[in-house]
Amino acid sequence: MTKPDPKTFAVKSYGCQMNVYDGERMAELLAAEGLRAAGEGEAADLVVLNTCHIREKATEKVYSEIGRLKRPDGSRPMVAVAGCVAQAEGAEIARRARVDVVVGPQAYHNLPALVAKAAKDGLALDTGMPAASKFGALPARRRVAPSAFLTVQEGCDKFCTYCVVPYTRGAEVSRPWAAIVDEAKALADAGAREITLLGQNVNAWRDDKRGLHDLIEAIALIPVIARIRYTTSHPNDMTDGLIAAHRDVAKLMPYLHLPVQAGSDRVLKAMNRSHSAASYLKILDKVRAARPDIALSGDFIVGFPGETGAEFEETLKLVDEVRYAQAFSFKYSPRPGTPAADMADQVAPELMDARLQRLQARLNAHQAEFNAATVGRRTEVLVERQGRKPGQMLGKSPWLQSVHFETDARIGDIVEVGIAAAGPNSLSGVERVSVAA
Ligand code: 5AD
Ligand code: SF4
Repeated sequence: MTKPDPKTFAVKSYGCQMNVYDGERMAELLAAEGLRAAGEGEAADLVVLNTCHIREKATEKVYSEIGRLKRPDGSRPMVAVAGCVAQAEGAEIARRARVDVVVGPQAYHNLPALVAKAAKDGLALDTGMPAASKFGALPARRRVAPSAFLTVQEGCDKFCTYCVVPYTRGAEVSRPWAAIVDEAKALADAGAREITLLGQNVNAWRDDKRGLHDLIEAIALIPVIARIRYTTSHPNDMTDGLIAAHRDVAKLMPYLHLPVQAGSDRVLKAMNRSHSAASYLKILDKVRAARPDIALSGDFIVGFPGETGAEFEETLKLVDEVRYAQAFSFKYSPRPGTPAADMADQVAPELMDARLQRLQARLNAHQAEFNAATVGRRTEVLVERQGRKPGQMLGKSPWLQSVHFETDARIGDIVEVGIAAAGPNSLSGVERVSVAA
C-alpha cells in the first residue's frame, strides 16, 4: 500500500551512544530534505525507530513499539526501522510487523531515498554495507547540544563469543583523520563544548601511524572545545600513548569506560576476550598512575554459559579490587548466530537473577562511595539542561557525575561548583564563580 510523502518526522533511538549519534544524523538528513521534526506530543507522518540488537529484550522492544504507533483512528504513520535490528533481521521484520522502510546502520544515508521509494511502492529495504563511507553523504552539523557525540570508528573484529556487534556493525573501520577533525570543528561552531569520540572499539582507531591519542591532542587544540571523552574501549587496544594522554592532555576528562565482562580467566577465554583478569588490572594500574583521580567504569555479563558459582565470585573479587565509579551489568542473553548461543551449560535464569543482584549491590555501593568522596570538593560542571526545580540547572562533573545546582548560568557554560551532597546517582552543589562562558 502506498502512502503520501511524509511532511513531519520523529526519530527514536535505543541502545548505545552511537545510536544516539546516528539518530541525530538521520534527523539532520530528513530536515535537509525539507521534512520538519514533529513537536512534543505531535503525531509524526514518519517515525524512525533506531533499534538495538545487543540483548533479546532490546530487540523485542522494537516490535512492541511498532504496535504502539497505531493511532486512535486506526491509521499508522510511515515506519522506518533503522539500526542493528534492521541489520540483523532485515526483511524478517516486515514479515513480523507492518513497516515501510528497513535500513541498516551502514546505509542510513539512503534514508530519504528509501522513504520516497516506500511512499511510492510500499516496502523499501537497504541493509548493505557499502565500502564507501556513509559519512561523506551526510549534511553538515548545524546545531548540537553542549555535549556532542562524534563517531570516529565503527565495527568490531574481536568476535567476543556472546556479541552481535561484529555482525550488525561490520568489520572495524576508522574514519579518516581530516574528516573527524573537520567534524569536530563543525561541532564546536554548532555549540559543542564537550566532544565524546565514539566507536565500538574506539581505542582501536587508526589513520596510518596515528592513534586515538593523536586525535585527542588535535581536537584539544580547538579553543571552544573544553572537554574530550571517548567510549567504548577494549583492553587490548589501551596503548601507552593513550594512557599518557590521560596525564598530558588537560582537556581529556578523567574517566575511562573499559569493559572487562568477567573476573574468571576461564570465562574470559570462553568469551574470546583475549585478556586475563590480571592483564586487565595491570592496565588499570598504569592508567591510575597516569591520572590518579580517574573514574573507572566497566561492563559486566553474569551467567555466561558454563559460569560456575566460584567463577562468578571471581567477578566480585575483581570488582572489589577496582572499585568502579560507575558500571553497567547484564544477564547473559543468547544472541542468534553467535557462538555462545550454541554452547552447552546455559545458566538457569534464577541463578542469573541472583548473581546480577549481588553484583549490582556491590557496584552500587562502590558508586555511592565514589560519589560521597567528591563531597566538599570544588569542581567544574558543564551545564547541559534545566533541572526540575525553577532556577536549577543540571550538568556533568569531569567524572561524568550528574550535578544539580541553582544558578543563572546558561546551557553550555562551564561553572565552578562546590559539591554539597551526594546521592547514589547524582550530586548536588553550590555555584562558586563562573569559569568560562
Ligand atoms: N548478553 C548480555 N550482555 C551483552 N553485552 C553484549 N552482548 C551481550 C549479550 N549477548 C553487554 C556487554 C557489552 C555491553 C555493551 O553489552 O557487557 O560490553
Ligand atoms: Fe546495540 Fe551494539 Fe547496535 Fe549499539 S552497536 S545499537 S549497542 S547492537
